[in-house]
Amino acid sequence: MVYEEGFARSPPRPEVAIRALDPGKSFGAHTALDGFSLDVGAGTACGLLGPNGAGKTTAVRILTTLTRPDSGQAQVAGFDVVRDPRQVRYRIGLVGQNASLDKILSGRESLVMFGRLVRLSAAAARRRAEELLEQFDLAAAANQPVADYSGGMRRRLDLAASLILSPPVTHHRSRSQGSHRRVVLNQSHCSEVARPCC
Ligand SMILES: Nc1ncnc2c1ncn2[C@@H]1O[C@H](COP(=O)(O)OP(=O)(O)OP(=O)(O)O)[C@@H](O)[C@H]1O
Ligand SMILES: [Mg+2]
Repeated sequence: MVYEEGFARSPPRPEVAIRALDPGKSFGAHTALDGFSLDVGAGTACGLLGPNGAGKTTAVRILTTLTRPDSGQAQVAGFDVVRDPRQVRYRIGLVGQNASLDKILSGRESLVMFGRLVRLSAAAARRRAEELLEQFDLAAAANQPVADYSGGMRRRLDLAASLILSPPVTHHRSRSQGSHRRVVLNQSHCSEVARPCC
């Protein structure tokens, strides 16, 4: 089920879910990203590996529209990250290094809040929260405050929150879970390469 209530244009679902055509980024005289080109096919998981400072976070920030590239191009789910950032945002999930959770809320309240923030109706947000709590094995702890969750439970809840809209493209900082026709772009330091991507 895809939750795109009332704000997204009819989605192109290209076979190439992520296309980077050498988007470049510099900070003053310092080049943060250069020579980064790739195509990621729909329904695949892609690992972004490199040493500290290689530009992985910069690349993901460009692909998630948090940073504009100085040059080159990038498209996500068929939309250009500079020309059509809103359309890109409707189609991605992002899980950062640190969980973006409010510890005083329960797991259920957190997911409903994220659903409302992406403009689901109250009923749709509650319904989606229940689905995700089941899917991520958090139903039994749904009413507990996040403060009482273990580290792993918080990661699962954070991941669930990134999937509220069933986005076709998700970006994860570390080990993640894929699903049918969803693209997972996983960025890791080289030392983490032994971990499975999905
Ligand atoms: N806002 C910024 N201002 C100045 N320099 C920056 C900024 N963001 C990143 N950089 C520089 O750009 C380069 C790439 O940084 P980036 O964070 O993308 O690397 P990374 O591959 O994610 O590294 P790590 O594995 O340590 O997370 C680094 O040299 C970094 O110092
Ligand atoms: Mg980084």
